[in-house]
Amino acid sequence: MATLKVGNNSQEVKDGENISAAAEAMGIPFSCHVGTCGTCLSSVESGRENLSEVTQEEKDFGLDGTAERLACQCKIKSGEVELKSAF
Ligand code: FES
Repeated sequence: MATLKVGNNSQEVKDGENISAAAEAMGIPFSCHVGTCGTCLSSVESGRENLSEVTQEEKDFGLDGTAERLACQCKIKSGEVELKSAF
């Protein structure tokens, strides 16, 4: 099990699973869920290395190599990741 944190909240997520449901439950806003709207843009406060590779949709947002990710595009590999909504 991996751990996703948003603010003072945290939830366990299965290793390799998409983090959308847990992130949404902890207050990260979502809309399209497919990487086109940008609503779920989040700053990765810690554990960036524990997230899946940047997707083409994220690269289209200029997010390759940045501290921000589209949460709907992220799977957690293992360990702990802390996110903060960009909005
Ligand atoms: S919810 Fe639209 S880009 Fe993630």
